[in-house]
Amino acid sequence: MTNPYMSTFNIQKLRQDFPNLNIRVHGKPLVYLDNAATTLKPRCVIDAMNAYYVTGVANVHRGVHYLSEQATAAFEYSRQVVRQFLHSAKVHEIIFTKGATESLNLIAQSYGRHFLKKGDEIIISHMEHHSNIVPWQMLCQQAGCVLKVIPINDRGEIIFEEYLKLLSDKTKLVSLVWVSNSLGTVNPVKAVIEAAHKQGAVVVIDAAQAVTHTPINVQELDCDFLVFSGHKVFGPTGVGVLYGKEKWLEAMPPYQGGGDMIKSVTFAGTTYNVLPYKFEAGTPAIAEVIGLRSALEFFQTIGWEGMKQHKEEILDHGTRTLLSIDGVRIIGTAKDKTSIISFVVDGIHPHDLGTLVDQEGVAIRTGHHCTQPVMQRFGIPATARASLAFYNTKEELDILAAAVKKAQAVFKQ
Ligand code: ALA
Repeated sequence: MTNPYMSTFNIQKLRQDFPNLNIRVHGKPLVYLDNAATTLKPRCVIDAMNAYYVTGVANVHRGVHYLSEQATAAFEYSRQVVRQFLHSAKVHEIIFTKGATESLNLIAQSYGRHFLKKGDEIIISHMEHHSNIVPWQMLCQQAGCVLKVIPINDRGEIIFEEYLKLLSDKTKLVSLVWVSNSLGTVNPVKAVIEAAHKQGAVVVIDAAQAVTHTPINVQELDCDFLVFSGHKVFGPTGVGVLYGKEKWLEAMPPYQGGGDMIKSVTFAGTTYNVLPYKFEAGTPAIAEVIGLRSALEFFQTIGWEGMKQHKEEILDHGTRTLLSIDGVRIIGTAKDKTSIISFVVDGIHPHDLGTLVDQEGVAIRTGHHCTQPVMQRFGIPATARASLAFYNTKEELDILAAAVKKAQAVFKQ
């Protein structure tokens, strides 16, 4: 049956919005398959940021002059757009940070150091990005908490029964990636959150990759915190989001001190600003916040259904095409997976493969993808990873496959 939404998903038209898709690399048209590392930026994002620098530059929340008020209005409008995007109940539950990593560190250092104590347990999974491991290890060292890890199976899925066994009245916090950046696994976050809440633990969701995979409704999910980075959703680098339930953000101490996060300062003491400013010390990334708004507005015009169908088709095509090559093995074969094809090729180190396919204009990431425990779990040093966005095509995946075959030929010489 024809999908009624597909008529609105016009990939050739959408591709025209991305200037980078026109560039050539080593004389070949760029095939950009590194979207899990960062996505390309549509022209509207670049234009919005340029417009701020060319005609509207000023600091926010500080001046009464025209430009400062304009910049403040644009900045706060972006917060409204993020609120709508995440469906949070209140706009002051949206905190701008540098990125998902800073958001996670903020939760660990502010919520964690305030609420967690010696012997309390934190649960993460074996497939976390380093940014969802190291901040909790640091907190454990500081506060004497204990880190527990949900194991994953050979397909790269969390073993849910093992998660349930780890949960106890000692569990105070669960932090889980929604979509794995190195395996593509989509985790059952709703069920994870419900089980944690039954034990009275709060839940942090790392939505860095999920943000382009599925609509997000933090109220329906009922997560306590959720983080993402602007640059993974077609926005600029240097800006990210922390969503937190108001009751937690109100109770948490500031993460950093400085301008904008205070109400009054004397040498006798300081009182702090209201939410969200309490967590936004110093001049923020104003142009980037404006660019993020533009990215989210652009992204939401595409239509989830058409995009989802297209991404499923290219994931399926890429997977089958790569698997048809002798010696190729895919790491990460979860029943529910999206957008990531991590693979190894017999006899070729992923770094060599990455260098050789680059000669064909194909950009993939090779290495451990900031998930060394995943590599340890699968007994490999690294993978080659093609990560897909809605603007990728089956033809681009065919070019990747041809480049892999060419690399094999080089290694057979
Ligand atoms: N987390 C990013 C990636 O997966 C950088 O490539």
